[in-house]
Amino acid sequence: MCGIVGYTGPQSAITPLIEGLRRLEYRGYDSAGIALGTPNKLFVEKRAGKLGNLEAALNATLPLTHSGIGHTRWATHGGPTDRNAHPHLDNEGKLAVIHNGIIENYTQLKAELIGRGHKFESETDTESVAHLLSDLRRSHGGDLSAAMREAVKSLRGSFTLLAIHADAPEVIVGVRRNSPLVVGLGKGENFLASDVAAFIDYTKRAVELGQDEVVTIRPDGIEITDLDGNAVKPKEYAITWDASAAQKGGYQHFMLKEIFEQPKAVADTLLGRLGKNNEILLDELHLTKEEVRSLKKIIVLACGTAYHAGMIAKYAIENWAKVAVEVEVASEFRYRDSVIDKDTLVIAISQSGETMDTLMALRHAKVEGAKILAVCNTNSSTIPRESDAVLYTHAGPEIAVASTKAFLTQVVAVYLIGLYLAQTRGVMDSDEVREIFDSMNELPAKIEQILETVEPLRELTRSFAKENSVLFLGRNVGFPVALEGALKLKELAYMHAEGFAGGELKHGPIALIEEGSLVIAVLPFGHEYGLDEKMLSNVQEVKARGAKVIVIAEEGAEVTGAAHTIRIPSAPALLQPILATVPLQVFAYEMAVARGNDVDQPRNLAKSVTVE
Ligand code: G6P
Repeated sequence: MCGIVGYTGPQSAITPLIEGLRRLEYRGYDSAGIALGTPNKLFVEKRAGKLGNLEAALNATLPLTHSGIGHTRWATHGGPTDRNAHPHLDNEGKLAVIHNGIIENYTQLKAELIGRGHKFESETDTESVAHLLSDLRRSHGGDLSAAMREAVKSLRGSFTLLAIHADAPEVIVGVRRNSPLVVGLGKGENFLASDVAAFIDYTKRAVELGQDEVVTIRPDGIEITDLDGNAVKPKEYAITWDASAAQKGGYQHFMLKEIFEQPKAVADTLLGRLGKNNEILLDELHLTKEEVRSLKKIIVLACGTAYHAGMIAKYAIENWAKVAVEVEVASEFRYRDSVIDKDTLVIAISQSGETMDTLMALRHAKVEGAKILAVCNTNSSTIPRESDAVLYTHAGPEIAVASTKAFLTQVVAVYLIGLYLAQTRGVMDSDEVREIFDSMNELPAKIEQILETVEPLRELTRSFAKENSVLFLGRNVGFPVALEGALKLKELAYMHAEGFAGGELKHGPIALIEEGSLVIAVLPFGHEYGLDEKMLSNVQEVKARGAKVIVIAEEGAEVTGAAHTIRIPSAPALLQPILATVPLQVFAYEMAVARGNDVDQPRNLAKSVTVE
């Protein structure tokens, strides 16, 4: 949600700003704008719609400047119009602000500012910050950083803010609260951005900012302070992936590239996790043996696709480690009286590490006394920083809004946690752990095998491009896979899609079935629990009522009643989600392509949802 970039240095600012915004497009947005650091009065252009609209509006008279700020907006307060697009200006047109997040007390602030004579141009919460900063800057003798520190003290909500002023255009000031902002350190130039992807072409040196820290960048250096003006030592880290990781590399879409990167992502997440005595190595969990043994409950908190990884965690951890696991969508968790104590471990799963619902839920759990373990893909993001421990997944940058490789690596990460807990609690011996780990090590090659044979599936998918609705059925770990298949299809194809537990079919969903309905049944989880036959009965039940059924089944498994069968390699039941999800990703991808949808940035969605 909302991409933010800032640049100051020797280059013509427009280049790193537009390139940076392009790299942040994946976050999801509906308008874009820039302010360039021209003296006297800032040069500002902003447009509703895609970045191309902004670029078309930037004509040849563009001034040559060496600093500026740029923004892609995902509308919250006020529709996605030119006028509501960021940057927002003070009344002199000298100070510009861009913002990600929500200023919760903006109505009151706006009323006060209007009372002091400020004129508002937009319906946004952000504009009030531009007017407020303008007043405060004046009262601080032109010091924009001091003005920002004071302004933030009176703001409620979550935000990243950047500001620039025409009287000192080489200076850009930023601040963050519950919303991401990173600094890029270049040679004679510096950057600010929502994430490192925006400046990765220029530098691999980044600095993370803490809560309520104000950063001031100039071409020759940066300063960070807290809100009282005390200096904060920059925490520098190296960016380990290169620019090509954030490029399409010959694929038509990021999503397709990311689907094809899954064998490597799964292998990377497993790398180095088995010790020489067949023990799972997860030192970063920071849990003592006693803590692991006295664990009474695990609560998994997550949103969207990550929530489905959490559901799979429940099946695996309860089976292997014999600890009760509750899974809850993060947005619901903190608004009820959950039972938590020091023997509760909360696992927060988040690709981005910035999802506000998950962050707020984990803060609530922390206050209640739980230990927090983050499963995250984005280094140094907020959720890992606020957790007691973090297990990073190694999916690499995921650019497409709809999650694919991050999901598979989240599932691998929770398997590792399950095995680690099982071994530490003495529920499994090292041979049993080794056996499962060996099966996990075979998964990358099996995903590869699925990917080598997707063409017939793509062709089949295209033949369903005009369907209105698809129902997904699964049992056991096939149930979260069915939910994930349905979510992917909703996100990408804008089709009605629902996932159900096979057993629930007769309790309602079967009423939806009519002649020609399309149903996808996720079969291959039954054999160890005797559920195969029950799934095949479900297939017969919907077929008898006129449905066309696509069945995802293991090689060699007996399938009856299917109009089409998609075969995947066999694996132990609990590990099957890693394989069975892949054809469903391809199905949703191809459906989006066939329907002419924006695959990497589906309408209305954002990759990193930084508002509650
Ligand atoms: C958004 C994205 C989903 C994602 C969810 C959770 O809704 O569109 O693809 O699964 O957020 O994101 P997270 O970064 O916390 O995993």
